[in-house]
Amino acid sequence: MSCAAAGRLKINMRVALGVSGGIAAYKAAELVRLLQERGLEVQVVMTRSAREFVAPLTFAALSGRKVITDMFGGESENANLENAIEHIAVAQAIDALVIAPATANVIAKLAHGIADDFLSTLAVATKAPIVVAPAMNVNMWENPATQQNLKTLRGRGVKVLDPDEGYLACGMTGAGRLASVDAIAQAVFETLGVRDDLKGETLLVTAGRTEEPLDAVRYLSNRSSGKMGYALAEAGRRRGASVILVSGPTHLEPPAGAAVERVRTAEEMAEAVLRNLEKATVVLMAAAVADFRPAEIQPRKIKRRDGVPSLKLEATRDILAEVAGRRRPEQLVVGFAAETDQVVENAAEKLRSKHLDLMVANDVTQPGAGFDVDTNIVTLLFADGRRQPLERMSKPEVAHHVLDAVAELRSAARHPAAAARSRKSAS
Ligand code: CTP
Repeated sequence: MSCAAAGRLKINMRVALGVSGGIAAYKAAELVRLLQERGLEVQVVMTRSAREFVAPLTFAALSGRKVITDMFGGESENANLENAIEHIAVAQAIDALVIAPATANVIAKLAHGIADDFLSTLAVATKAPIVVAPAMNVNMWENPATQQNLKTLRGRGVKVLDPDEGYLACGMTGAGRLASVDAIAQAVFETLGVRDDLKGETLLVTAGRTEEPLDAVRYLSNRSSGKMGYALAEAGRRRGASVILVSGPTHLEPPAGAAVERVRTAEEMAEAVLRNLEKATVVLMAAAVADFRPAEIQPRKIKRRDGVPSLKLEATRDILAEVAGRRRPEQLVVGFAAETDQVVENAAEKLRSKHLDLMVANDVTQPGAGFDVDTNIVTLLFADGRRQPLERMSKPEVAHHVLDAVAELRSAARHPAAAARSRKSAS
């Protein structure tokens, strides 16, 4: 059976985080990290009073981008047209606006459409969904004007996270403490449809090539860039999984929050994978591991004057076969097959012989597929014989389709009867 390729995914999502003035402003720093860990780009916008509590530099360092503080770049020489229209550009670029902490003043401005600084203007100018996390003194929270304003906002579809009760910075006790940053992050993920379906899983991902030394300066390797494995690691983090990334040599940036083990040779990769195998619930072997290595490594550079050397090669360890041999029954093992001939047949044979749950086959001879390009054309092969060819798409999109299949296999193992029914109705 073959299924049609699923729809395009939105990979890069941007959030504006509005920070208004209050003791809780410092908690927004942790929120930046939580949002980024799930792959969101965060643009921080601070009100004038927020800057009395936390320096913009803190947020700039955490978010890796300039913090927007003023409508016109302030009184400084920075005042220019670019700043004057920036709110429109940001308003159009974002997928959500979250304001945390939101003061009584900001809430009142939002309710009445007042646009007198960058944050309030952004809120009026954007069509993106808005999440508001109020934090204030209990009397301000209970004030009928504040409650009326919140009712107005809820009525317009703004998601309001009620504050927690407890001891407040002003010395009083009651409602007014900023909701937990976890709850705020969760509300943003729900608003954006960021999936959580791999929460509780630990993905062990191999990525990139290996290098097998020949002498002091030379090695045997292949053209793998590591992009597919890094895309899997990134996609896994975004979907709530813990990730252990065993990476061959590459210049790629690992995703935030992944544990990274850097290796060079197939032997080092085998050791790192087997060392981490116990912790993994899913193993994704995207690395292009060398199958052969020089039988002897010359400690010094082989000289031209000594004539052309003949290379004696020996087999490296087949890491995937070793993993398949030691796996626990509930572990899912996914292999990748880069083929040039009889792609699907060869991949199906590897799937069978190594007892894998899923094989990702790609024909590296096709334009837009394989090594060191940003796209790939793959077919997913399942152990039950199903085949799912995917159209040409970016490697991050391929990664999400592979993880969709992993999530599906996981839920099928939990609910076998329901899975059989849904497969029947799909075919
Ligand atoms: N693999 C591995 N260890 C190796 C070679 C490959 O773990 N020494 C893994 C790769 O990471 C991939 C899968 O095995 O997930 C298939 O790799 P591939 O090179 O396509 O297949 P091989 O089994 O090596 O067979 P061949 O090279 O003959 O096609």
